[in-house]
Amino acid sequence: MTKTIYILNGPNLNLLGSREPEIYGTRTLAQIEADCRKLTDAAGINLIFRQTNEEGELVHWVQEAAKMASALIINAAAYTHTSVAVFDALKLLDIPIIEVHLSNPSAREPFRQQNFISPAATSGIFGFGAVGYNMAVKAVINLTNNQNNQWN
Ligand code: DQA
Repeated sequence: MTKTIYILNGPNLNLLGSREPEIYGTRTLAQIEADCRKLTDAAGINLIFRQTNEEGELVHWVQEAAKMASALIINAAAYTHTSVAVFDALKLLDIPIIEVHLSNPSAREPFRQQNFISPAATSGIFGFGAVGYNMAVKAVINLTNNQNNQWN
């Protein structure tokens, strides 16, 4: 059966490319999706890639990933720092969860030091810009390879 990876993106990430490019870079979310899809296509994995500006929608999708996905990559954007609801939803998953941020929130404003995602995540990739998504996809493929030799 074809494996599925979910990549979920939170608020304002639809504006990547033009949003504070000195912090988030110039790649658009569509370009990031295309980069990720090259990797998943090559690995024979199905990719669900979504973005929302709504907290409840993000919660729904995390719940959906709990049923459908072999791994979840999430950039919850500002909800990283505020959302107990997303944290609670992530706790439902027993699959690898990789938290991605384009910037390194720990090196930024004090309000970004609060993080509700990391305690529920398997690991995180912060501060590598758009490349961080590729790193996360590769990590997830390797992780899943280690758990299930069908992917080798
Ligand atoms: C971000 C970091 C968050 O602090 C911020 O609210 C974002 C983007 C990142 O990818 O660097 O919207 O998640």
